[in-house]
Amino acid sequence: MKAVVIGGGTMGAGIAHLLLANGHDVTLSEADAERAEQGRAAVRRSLDKAREKGKLADAEAAFAKLSTGELPADAELVVEAVPENVPLKQEVLGFAAEKCPGAVLASNTSSLSIADIAAGLPGERVLGMHFFNPVPVQQLVELVHHEGVDPANVAKVRTWAEQMGKTVIEVRDSPGFATSRLGVAVGMEAIRMVEEGVASAADIDTGMKLGYRWPMGPLELTDLVGLDVRLAIAEHLAARLGPRFEPPALLRDKVARGELGKKSGQGFFTW
Ligand SMILES: NC(=O)c1ccc[n+]([C@@H]2O[C@H](COP(=O)([O-])OP(=O)(O)OC[C@H]3O[C@@H](n4cnc5c(N)ncnc54)[C@H](O)[C@@H]3O)[C@@H](O)[C@H]2O)c1
Repeated sequence: MKAVVIGGGTMGAGIAHLLLANGHDVTLSEADAERAEQGRAAVRRSLDKAREKGKLADAEAAFAKLSTGELPADAELVVEAVPENVPLKQEVLGFAAEKCPGAVLASNTSSLSIADIAAGLPGERVLGMHFFNPVPVQQLVELVHHEGVDPANVAKVRTWAEQMGKTVIEVRDSPGFATSRLGVAVGMEAIRMVEEGVASAADIDTGMKLGYRWPMGPLELTDLVGLDVRLAIAEHLAARLGPRFEPPALLRDKVARGELGKKSGQGFFTW
């Protein structure tokens, strides 16, 4: 299968790796030549790492199927992983829709409305294909469909994802889809419990790990994702779904102080 990945950052490089490692041809499209080169290098590093770990037999052969030129007219799948912004996603998918007239147009957005992105595009070809970081490792793909999508395109993408070893869940286009909505709800409640002095951050996390068999507590996960990122998602969900997603004052205060989690060295835990 010929695929196009638009955006070669954290997620785009991972999606390209996954497709290449499964024998697909990938054209990586970036904003300019310098960033295309950086994207190629990121894919190369990722493939080499998989080979060193014994998870990929031939990184060289996989990398040989990557190009950065013109979008192929016979591409069957386009996945965009450009920054989280509706007009930008519409622009890059609109360009790809014309260049690749037979391709399904998938967005890797983690929160934006698929119907909003599909507006002005051939909507029957547009859907959400939400990967998780790091893409080659994480098992889940959340397929998001809006009303106008052709079910045959959803079925095609499900098949490709499953052939690449992923487990697919299907979700109707709604704020936060299934994963972010539930994950943020638990994360916000855990922060409110710290705020109210119910228990320490460490004890809340230990409670969920040992009592509920979670691999990681909700506060450690918030530190890993970034408190600023989780705040932005909670604000988006509160605006769309109502006050039950209103971020706690403690989260706003920590973000204002620059305590963003692992990336800043301090969040609910010290890193
Ligand atoms: N980082 C995560 O954990 C994660 C997880 C799931 C989904 N997502 C979603 O994936 C998308 C990308 O996130 P990311 O973390 O990879 O971002 P990133 O900033 O690492 O990468 C974005 C890339 O898009 C490129 N880009 C910008 N404008 C472009 C254009 N016009 N044409 C082509 N490329 C362009 C940038 O140069 C950059 O390389 C976002 O929608 C994000 O919400 C991210």
